[in-house]
Amino acid sequence: SIESRIEDLLKRMTIEEKILQMNQWTYGKNANANNIEASMKAVRPEIGSLIYRSINPVYKNQIQRKAMEQSRLGIPILMGFDVIHGYRTIFPIPLAQACSWNTDLVKDACSVAAKESKLSGVDWTFSPMVDVARDARWGRVAEGYGEDPYANAMFAVASIKGYQGNKLSDPYSIAACIKHYIGYSLSEGGRDYRYADVSAQTMWETFMPPYEAGVKAGAATLMSSFNDISGIPASANPYTLTEILKKRWKHDGFVVSDWGSVENLIPQGFAKDKKEAAWLSFMSGVEMDMVDNIYVEHLPQLVKEKKIPMSKIDEAVRRILRIKFRLGLFEQPYVVELPENERYYQPESMHIAEQLAAESMVLLKNNKQTLPVNKSVKRIALIGPMVKDSINIMGSWEGQGVPEAVETIYEGFEKEFNGKASLHYAKGCAFEGSDESGFEEAVNTAMQSDVIIVCIGEMKKWSGENASRSTIALPVIQERLVSALKKTGKPIVLILSNGRPLELGNLENLSDAILEIWQPGIAGGSAVAGMVSGRLNPSGKLAITFPLTTGQIPTYYNMRQSARPKLGGYQDIPTEPKYVFGYGLSYTSFTYGDVKLSATRFSKNQKITASVEVTNSGAMDGKETLLWFIADPVASITRPMKELKFFEKKELKTGERKIFTFEIDPMRDLSFPDANGMRRLESGDYYLIVNGQKIKFELID
Ligand code: IFM
Repeated sequence: SIESRIEDLLKRMTIEEKILQMNQWTYGKNANANNIEASMKAVRPEIGSLIYRSINPVYKNQIQRKAMEQSRLGIPILMGFDVIHGYRTIFPIPLAQACSWNTDLVKDACSVAAKESKLSGVDWTFSPMVDVARDARWGRVAEGYGEDPYANAMFAVASIKGYQGNKLSDPYSIAACIKHYIGYSLSEGGRDYRYADVSAQTMWETFMPPYEAGVKAGAATLMSSFNDISGIPASANPYTLTEILKKRWKHDGFVVSDWGSVENLIPQGFAKDKKEAAWLSFMSGVEMDMVDNIYVEHLPQLVKEKKIPMSKIDEAVRRILRIKFRLGLFEQPYVVELPENERYYQPESMHIAEQLAAESMVLLKNNKQTLPVNKSVKRIALIGPMVKDSINIMGSWEGQGVPEAVETIYEGFEKEFNGKASLHYAKGCAFEGSDESGFEEAVNTAMQSDVIIVCIGEMKKWSGENASRSTIALPVIQERLVSALKKTGKPIVLILSNGRPLELGNLENLSDAILEIWQPGIAGGSAVAGMVSGRLNPSGKLAITFPLTTGQIPTYYNMRQSARPKLGGYQDIPTEPKYVFGYGLSYTSFTYGDVKLSATRFSKNQKITASVEVTNSGAMDGKETLLWFIADPVASITRPMKELKFFEKKELKTGERKIFTFEIDPMRDLSFPDANGMRRLESGDYYLIVNGQKIKFELID
């Protein structure tokens, strides 16, 4: 068995060999045939893991051969990489994926990413990120699944299943890593790497659910985060890393630190030097040290001084070896060396990329049915810095994505409108700066057209790690461009590509329709063009709220009620955000029947069913997502105003009716955690909320 093979190895390993297993270095960034030999020399064959940065399976095999043949015990190296929204075939950013509410499609995209990764030499991805979004100024909201804990949990499970397949040892499975454990998205003011004040209650109700779901779904690893959790940094936190993860949830894989987060304990004021940092991190439950080499340097001495028991070293190595065995790396350390065209961009993968891009897009505004453009539109103006962009449209953490593989919005329109309408392009302006010299050409181009499609948004470097912004509004130059175009009197369609919600300000009034496309990846061009032509019908709904202004943050929907519900907003702006969680329009219309409950008074061990009939009453086939919320108005610990408990997306042809159902399981759906994570289920009144209907029911003892 795997366990006996681990024990057998452990018995034969020296302490140095054990500690090397607990380290990760990087490898292969600029690898080429000329330097590969030299770079191989720098790698110890006993190293536990490498961040494998080349796409070439040949180099992976070479370095792996070194581990297998030149190390005493022939333990394979685990190769990790940030495969966040695709490896080479780049899908929409995770925030966009969440707006699709299509977990099957997300799972499929992650399977594609896993296969491409594996064929390139990568066995382990640092994904999914499930930091529940709280502040859109934080650049990393792009990488997670929005502001709801349940949605993050469901997408965590889907992505883990996609990456890890049925079993880790399947030929195209890779190990997942849920990150960043935990509380990272509360970094103060949305500024990266900052202190996070995470109360125990908030930790349990907001941040733990996706991790718990991911661990239950079998995630092989977790990554400890950079932030300080209310005084005890996340990368040296025995409560989260050991008490909860290992003891309560019985996770038997391992935890890797984030890049340098062990050493960061020094500036955080938690460790006086590297040795103490190593000791604190290791003892709290971080088994692998990402890149800063502190474990290699200091753990041997700490063992000698009896500050670390050997049994604890063995346990850490056991966990790392377990994942290597489960991945089948001992049996199959090498990868087949296929040419690139057999590894990437397979037709089925491209199809998933386009479908996911399309389902992620959210139609925010559509006055007088500006979209889809009607058949009489013969001249289309495509204006803006995003029209021919092939870099920013991929978003941050684009894996091994390359701009040459991106279908730009312009190219998507060329295909879509070929022979139907002529295209007229002007860039207008850059993403930022104050150069308005392109405005005149843009206005002239627009003047001669029937509709103006303005493609603007964020550069990829404005979101992701260490990419926070003090304002979530676009730079003024972009709004000025749209103002100039408005003077033509032609209908304006805004296509927004960004990695976070935006403060739309005047852009909202200047436009007739707004389609949020996020950073849709390499097949986004076709999807946008299909939305504009009407070949596709928008079905995305926001997984994160769009605040009215940056100063209105936080605006997450699952807040608690204020003490004076009608008071306490800001003097100068309305209380309501611009576009709330769950918002999104379609080209068709859906009519809802009355929501029915199989019982409105029931006991704690009973389950009841809620159902509602939905009809596609419009003229176009479409998909509708139902978000089912529960509100618990009075409880022994105050509850959010409402909480998402279930969602489902279904396709409905024109005229078709379908019943959506949600089975309410009291323990799962009505209970809530206390500050220790113990669940309370309380009798009393509750509300079921779905699509504007609110139905009262009572739970009895
Ligand atoms: O996986 C990432 C993490 O999200 C941020 N710091 C670096 C890691 C490895 O690249």
